[in-house]
Amino acid sequence: ADQKAAYKERIKLLLQQRDAVLVAHYYTDPEIQALAEETGGCVSDSLEMARFGNKHPAKTLIVAGVKFMGETAKILNPEKTVLMPTLEATCSLDLGCPADAFSAFCDEHPDRVVVVYANTSAAVKARADWVVTSSIALDVVEHLDSEGKKILWGPDRHLGAYVQKQTGADMLLWQGACIVHDEFKAKALVELKKQYPNAAVLVHPESPANVVDLADAVGSTSQLIKASQTMPNDTFIVATDRGIFYKMQQAMPDKTFIEAPTGGNGATCRSCAHCPWMAMNGLKAIEDALLQSEGHEIFVDADLREQALIPLDRMLNFAK
Ligand code: 13P
Ligand code: SF4
Repeated sequence: ADQKAAYKERIKLLLQQRDAVLVAHYYTDPEIQALAEETGGCVSDSLEMARFGNKHPAKTLIVAGVKFMGETAKILNPEKTVLMPTLEATCSLDLGCPADAFSAFCDEHPDRVVVVYANTSAAVKARADWVVTSSIALDVVEHLDSEGKKILWGPDRHLGAYVQKQTGADMLLWQGACIVHDEFKAKALVELKKQYPNAAVLVHPESPANVVDLADAVGSTSQLIKASQTMPNDTFIVATDRGIFYKMQQAMPDKTFIEAPTGGNGATCRSCAHCPWMAMNGLKAIEDALLQSEGHEIFVDADLREQALIPLDRMLNFAK
């Protein structure tokens, strides 16, 4: 505990010295989320992270999350230094959607508007007409569908299938998945619900369709946190990364939050749902990045940046 407190104090000083602000995702460790809050940074979902970084006057953004979040920050703020605790923190959706293969897929379907999830590389964004996050995917696709557009969607097949089902839009899906959310099990969730008949089920739409079907609320991390505050239930079963429990419990200390099962056979697997890449963000890594930018700084090729900015701006302007 003493060591952690010492890290926190040094990081606070470095943030001031470097005119830097800490932007953290809800899936990072509670101590990182708390530090971001204490130091005037932000803790949020991926859309709000992008907005916050864009508006904040600091010269340096230190993004605690995964690489696509750092890249998004850099695309939106080329004049700022964007640092990450580690550049190794990627995302299975990003890994499962190489730009050349995705671009070839788009070329095969020139009649479709290309909508990509924010969980992608700058190069994939550069090939897209629209970028969306889970919090506005439904609204954007509904809008495109109302204009009669056919959609090519990538990379998350579960989020894509959910959006398709909700909107009825014509969507062709790339077959990517999040290794964390893909593990939630519907059968075991049905059993758990029997044990907690008054619990509401909150599900992130990167989860499989049969898990989403059991949800009382479906949404982005911020939307799920909001649901946990506004729904009258005192118990919630939550199907998303366990990092989210910090904020849920902080806002509603008297409510009970239970992890949705990731194991089969009715077994609940405690603390299984945690993104291995989000877990790479630690206090030491944050200090390292602030001390020595080299090996922590995000760079995006200028041409790619210009291209990727178009669909990202479209998203930010749409969601205004
Ligand atoms: P949110 O946009 O809901 O924060 O999701 C980001 C993410 O990576 C979910 O796995
Ligand atoms: Fe990617 Fe899944 Fe991790 Fe989110 S939880 S960053 S979608 S691997």
